[in-house]
Amino acid sequence: MNSVKVGICGLGTVGGGTFNVLKRNAEEIARRVGCSIEVAQVAARDTNPKCDTGATPITADVFELVSNPDIDVVVELIGGDTIARELVLKAIDNGKHVVTANKALIAVHGNEIFARAREKGVIVAYEAAVAGGIPVIKAIREGLAGNRINWLAGIINGTGNFILTEMREKGRAFGDVLKEAQDLGYAEADPTFDVEGIDAAHKLTILASIAFGIPLQFDKAYTEGITQLTTADVNYAEALGYRIKHLGVARRTGRGIELRVHPTLIPADRLLANVNGVMNAVMVNGDAVGSTLYYGAGAGMEPTASAVVADLVDVAHALATSPEYRVPALGFQDAALSAHPILPIADCESAYYLRIQAKDRPGVLAQVASILSERGINIESIMQKEAEEQDGLVPMILVTHRVQEQRIDDAISALEALADISGNVVRIRVEQLN
Ligand code: HSE
Repeated sequence: MNSVKVGICGLGTVGGGTFNVLKRNAEEIARRVGCSIEVAQVAARDTNPKCDTGATPITADVFELVSNPDIDVVVELIGGDTIARELVLKAIDNGKHVVTANKALIAVHGNEIFARAREKGVIVAYEAAVAGGIPVIKAIREGLAGNRINWLAGIINGTGNFILTEMREKGRAFGDVLKEAQDLGYAEADPTFDVEGIDAAHKLTILASIAFGIPLQFDKAYTEGITQLTTADVNYAEALGYRIKHLGVARRTGRGIELRVHPTLIPADRLLANVNGVMNAVMVNGDAVGSTLYYGAGAGMEPTASAVVADLVDVAHALATSPEYRVPALGFQDAALSAHPILPIADCESAYYLRIQAKDRPGVLAQVASILSERGINIESIMQKEAEEQDGLVPMILVTHRVQEQRIDDAISALEALADISGNVVRIRVEQLN
């Protein structure tokens, strides 16, 4: 197979992002799959100014796309659960694999859709339906496959978390933050789905099914939103050492499975309590592994596209390669492994924390600063503590901007040679990871 032909239905936030990621990373994706993934057609009523579809054929009719005999995989990104359901069932009937980001569709009609797909021998993949760019479906379904899952708890609506964070940190008004979330493309078409917990309940329903091996039962999920939360509650919780988060919880008990979405106080020092803005995080507890945490962007154009494209890669593996090579050991096809060299540490780049023990004399700081500036090393922050009584030395702590390690080695040698500096300079690398 030279290429896998994809048809994208919907060119909104996620559709546009998927098109862009497929185009930008075409070469890297082909290295992973062993052939190219080509967008053969797009179905959209409107163009997306953030997405240049170039010469790709466009139709306004999604049903024309699902009947296009050239298309192997239909990517459903139109949202909603009426036309989307019809579209996906039609695609399956036409023998096409399906990738969808539609949590409402899977949570409400997933049992029917999966049964039809089994009958027709096609794949329906839905990683992007839960927690945007976080590969949490794969983590639970494959990575934790050896466990009996006890419970999971997650912040799985980016819009709601963004609103709570802005209210708590900046005292902003609910409606004002919601409007911003809509402008950023995070919120659902009907934002009550976000703030009333319906979107989170869709996602929790899916997570519970793959965690516990139960049919999808959205209608049984308990759902409570964040619209009734007051600033006073947020502040009292804070005074008690808690943060309020909108949590989805699914727990296995001796009597059955808890499936609930509601505002929740979490001790402020828990990792989940510190998941802020549009970020999502899901904690999963398994009997063998204990607790694990999955964190990342839960909404947005390219984070969600990242999950859609990963599903396309999975489907393409199944279509394009012989079974024994479906998931290569290193994630890339053996023949496509790159010959890029590993850099020696001196050629690597980082920011640095430096601790210098200096004599308490005029001009020492100026000497240190000039050694760094001569080597093009930019100081981000500097702190000097009082002299310690025993030795009269002054600890001087510096954090630099990012620079090649060779220059820091050189600067440290020069610093250690100064008469006013005592002992070795302590150096620790700093990564902002942003
Ligand atoms: N409206 C959803 C959210 C988008 O805010 O999390 C991603 O599913």
